[in-house]
Amino acid sequence: MLKRTSPSGGGRHPTEGILLIRKAIGNIKEGNYAYDTETHSLVKLDNSNIKLDHILPEGTDFSILFTVCPERAMWRYRDIRAFRPMLIDIGHVIETFKLLISKASYNLIKGGITEATEVAEALGINWMEEPAFNILHVGIEKMNLNNQNEIYTPVFLKKLVNRESSYSALNLLTNPFSWIKIKNGVIFLNIIYPEQRQLHLNISDLEVLTHCLPSQRGDRLTDIKNILNSVNYYNEDPEKRLYNLINNYGLIPESIAKGWYNHIAKWSIYGWYPSLLQHAHTITELSYKKNSSLYEESPRREFENLENSLMKRKTVREFENDIVTFESFKNIIDSIFPITEGLSLNIYIVAFNITKIKNGCYKIINKDDCWQIKKTGISLNRKEFQDLAIGQYPASAGAFNILMINEMDVSSSKKYEEQFISLGKLGQRICLTATREDLGVFLTPAVKDKALFEKLGITQYDRCATYLFSIGVPKGER
Ligand SMILES: Cc1cc2nc3c(=O)[nH]c(=O)nc-3n(C[C@H](O)[C@H](O)[C@H](O)COP(=O)(O)O)c2cc1C
Repeated sequence: MLKRTSPSGGGRHPTEGILLIRKAIGNIKEGNYAYDTETHSLVKLDNSNIKLDHILPEGTDFSILFTVCPERAMWRYRDIRAFRPMLIDIGHVIETFKLLISKASYNLIKGGITEATEVAEALGINWMEEPAFNILHVGIEKMNLNNQNEIYTPVFLKKLVNRESSYSALNLLTNPFSWIKIKNGVIFLNIIYPEQRQLHLNISDLEVLTHCLPSQRGDRLTDIKNILNSVNYYNEDPEKRLYNLINNYGLIPESIAKGWYNHIAKWSIYGWYPSLLQHAHTITELSYKKNSSLYEESPRREFENLENSLMKRKTVREFENDIVTFESFKNIIDSIFPITEGLSLNIYIVAFNITKIKNGCYKIINKDDCWQIKKTGISLNRKEFQDLAIGQYPASAGAFNILMINEMDVSSSKKYEEQFISLGKLGQRICLTATREDLGVFLTPAVKDKALFEKLGITQYDRCATYLFSIGVPKGER
């Protein structure tokens, strides 16, 4: 069995790290590398000679690009909610690197989803095949790095725009990254990729979009002349209306759209198509500042024994009935703070067996750089926890449980994805601190939302996401 420093939903480990070395480090030459688990070595990638100087920030000696192979997770979890653990997984991995980089006192310039997507595309990694979610740029020498805060459009999106100068001879297909909404009797086409647009449609436009859906038999003619022949336009200049659809990406040249449909087929057979749309929306969200994402300070206290904890960490599913000391409990809660910017987190503790704390459900109140626990009056017993964690016994077996419940900010797609990544980052801190305290962790985001939130008095349960931890003395290890 391979040992991993991070947990991963269903053991799928879809996160990949690509190391981009810009300046030789010791014996390791400049180039792009992947880690080969069989030989425990870095393997140089074919794309090593692609120059990235124009997109990597100044002062970078090496970068770690985090991408995801969604297929590893989606063939097993064929429902849309499985996108969450995939994002949480990335957070766990990123946090490990961040802690190691900070321990080495290197300079860290954080990138977000947009920067990562841009670098991945430059390396020839297609975002529909292997989306990128984060990039950490690291400078070995200490220097003052300016935070670049300008709003920018990634080059790869710019390239897609206005790619074709003449459409007259081209076959066109309906953009699969678009959807139709009808509101107050008006039909809208919402386009997500390669740019976000919203168009008013008339009935004829709708007919065009239906006509240009990929045909199973492949015998439908979809060049401009044939579209105009097949659709009953009335009142307006038909060619003008058609170009309105083309210029706003409602219709896409077949040569490009066919590739998109091929990628989408994979996501849709596993029921993950809405998650692909979600991510497309994320990468085209442009009112977004460079390096402003996933910002957070380092943990309040330095991580002791980080390497040891990383080597020892594993998911625990059976616990002793032993009591956990208040000191260990306190260290674990301390490690959660400061909470990643962008989260709006309610943290509940349910104590079953901690010294100095009466059994019961508490809420953590964080104020002026310190936290306190406050009794809630809610009762949650072990059996209820098993039920809330969709029948999983380990959720009921630790000495105490932590419930991280985030009130999701859904005002932006990027923020939506980042909040799950951030939950994973905090989760990794919990895992590593508990391991250092010789405690075991069971963790899951798979909870019955409605039942849990009703119990906690949370009314907006369609807007909250939970990450549950059960922590205690691992069975047979003391
Ligand atoms: C986001 C996430 C969700 C998880 N959900 C569950 C779960 O519902 N049930 C479970 O038994 N383990 C769950 N795990 C733990 C994984 O199964 C475990 O990490 C994986 O099998 C690898 O084993 P290891 O953590 O011991 O290295 C989850 C882990 C993560 C990161």
